Amino acid sequence: MRKKIVAGNWKMNKNLNEGIILANELIEKLISSSIDVEVILGVPFTHLEKITSISKKYSVSAQNCSAQESGAFTGEISTKMIQSTGAKYVILGHSERRIFHKENNSDLAKKVDLCLMDDLIVIYCCGETLSDRESGNHFMVVKSQIEDVLFHLSGEQMSKLVIAYEPVWAIGTGVTASSDQAQEMHAFIRSIFTQKYGLELSRGLSILYGGSCKPSNAQDIFSKEDVDGGLIGGASLNANDFYQIINAF
Ligand code: 13P
Repeated sequence: MRKKIVAGNWKMNKNLNEGIILANELIEKLISSSIDVEVILGVPFTHLEKITSISKKYSVSAQNCSAQESGAFTGEISTKMIQSTGAKYVILGHSERRIFHKENNSDLAKKVDLCLMDDLIVIYCCGETLSDRESGNHFMVVKSQIEDVLFHLSGEQMSKLVIAYEPVWAIGTGVTASSDQAQEMHAFIRSIFTQKYGLELSRGLSILYGGSCKPSNAQDIFSKEDVDGGLIGGASLNANDFYQIINAF
C-alpha cells in the first residue's frame, strides 16, 4: 500500500510565533484523530527546529536546500544543517524556485543527491505552465523534469522519494486541475517510473497533487486512483482547512 501524505507548504508565510500557533492548533486536532495519513509541514528554515520539536504528530520539511555541501556560500542552507534540525523532508523543484530563483534541472539533480546523502526525503515537484498545456507539451515537460533530475538514481534511492505534481497554472490561482486532469497526469507519471524502475517501485511511489487544493475539492481529487495526497499551499495556513484536507481521503 502506498503511503497517503498531506503536506503543507507554508512558503514565505508566518513568523516563528505565528507558525508555532498554527502548529499547535493543528496538533490539537491531530491528537484526537486516528487517520492513517502522514502529515508534513513544509516550513521556513528559521522554523525547522522549533516546529520539529513541538510534536511527533507530523513530520517537518524544508522548502529548499543548497546545491553545495558546505563552505563559502553566504546565505545558503545545507542538507546537513537541515538534517541537524530534526526535519525529515525537503521540497525540491517547486515552480516558484524554478521561476523566481532560476533553478534548473542540473541544480536540482545535485540537491537531490545531497538530500539522499544526508537521509532527507525529497518531495520532488514537477508540473507544466499554462502555455505548455495549451500547446499540448505538458506530458513532455513533466517527463523531462523527472528524467533529467531523477533518472540517475538507483531504484533503491528512487524508492525513497515522493513526487508532487503541481501544474503551475493551478498554484495560488484558485484554478484547480480537475480530478480527471490530475489522475491523467499522475497515471502518466507513474508509468514513466514503471518504464524506468519497474512496477514494484512505481506502485509504491506516493504522488501528491498540488495547486489550489482546498477542503471543497480535496475529496474529489484524492478519490482518484493515482493521487496519493496533496501538497497544499494557501489552505495549509489555516488549521481548520488543512485538517479538513487531511481528512479528505
Ligand atoms: P496553493 O495551494 O496555494 O495553490 O499552492 C500550491 C503549492 O504551490 C504547494 O507547493
